[in-house]
Amino acid sequence: MPADEAGRSGGRLDGRVAVITGGARGQGRAHAVRLAREGADIVICDIGEPIGTVAYPMGSETELAETARLVREQGRRAVTVKADVRNLAAMEEVAAQAVAMFGRIDILLANAGIAGASPIAEMTGEQWKDMIDINLTGVFHAFRAVVPHMIERGYGRIVATSSIVARMGATNSGHYAAAKWGVIGLVKSLSLEVAAHGITVNAVLPSGVNTIQVHNEVAYRAFRPDLEHPTREDVMPLFANGPGLLEPEDVSAAMMFLVSDEHGHMNGETLTLSAGMSASTT
Ligand SMILES: NC(=O)c1ccc[n+]([C@@H]2O[C@H](COP(=O)([O-])OP(=O)(O)OC[C@H]3O[C@@H](n4cnc5c(N)ncnc54)[C@H](O)[C@@H]3O)[C@@H](O)[C@H]2O)c1
Repeated sequence: MPADEAGRSGGRLDGRVAVITGGARGQGRAHAVRLAREGADIVICDIGEPIGTVAYPMGSETELAETARLVREQGRRAVTVKADVRNLAAMEEVAAQAVAMFGRIDILLANAGIAGASPIAEMTGEQWKDMIDINLTGVFHAFRAVVPHMIERGYGRIVATSSIVARMGATNSGHYAAAKWGVIGLVKSLSLEVAAHGITVNAVLPSGVNTIQVHNEVAYRAFRPDLEHPTREDVMPLFANGPGLLEPEDVSAAMMFLVSDEHGHMNGETLTLSAGMSASTT
């Protein structure tokens, strides 16, 4: 690809604008950097404060700023917004800022999410509510805020992050499984509604990804209920004989596949990324 005056080489997303929820770190950050490398300007939002029922810290404003720096390092523009996907008005503000700064939104990655562990018989209403409000309703809010703009422009690429868990039940994570199954219903329904407007809507279903969502004490206890304080060293051998953990960048590659125009006929699909784990599911 030829370089422009700023020395950037062209990419598959030149001139595009992407909104990414939960972009302060982890997979969202990797997606921001990958899409920027392909030429997109990026609007990233994250909550930037703790959630009472989640045992590990949420992405901070400092991490959000670091994602923006990494995007700019790719020669692209970045805007950060502190916003909670549980709040529709906040998501509408994210969309409004994207349009005000960059004039358009071409891509939405509804990536923000939390994890938690509790058997259903002991789950509190608050644990259930936070999970559904963030991992399912939060995806709806992102869709609701961005889709009218995409319909008006007659173009859009939307990908929501579900999970391999949306192909099975999940012991001690029934709320997570229910939310991630729900995301697929939402994705397929929206894809039917907007296909005629040049908009595709798909879901990625990763298995375990190497982020804080699996590297925290509650997750470790779910993997090793036999230990009182399991550590990373106690848990990692469990992955050694199986498919292993994905890296965030592996999921970014799937995102690129779904947002690029080469795959504009992928619509209403679920793209599983499980390093072989899905070989034992239908
Ligand atoms: N890590 C895994 O094993 C795995 C596997 C499959 C799917 N997923 C999903 O991938 C997505 C990204 O997770 P990750 O692995 O990068 O974990 P992560 O915790 O590093 O990233 C999630 C980001 O979402 C943000 N977030 C959470 N609640 C929010 C809210 N209410 N409003 C705005 N932002 C909020 C967090 O602050 C964090 O920055 C999530 O939807 C997760 O459920 C993760």
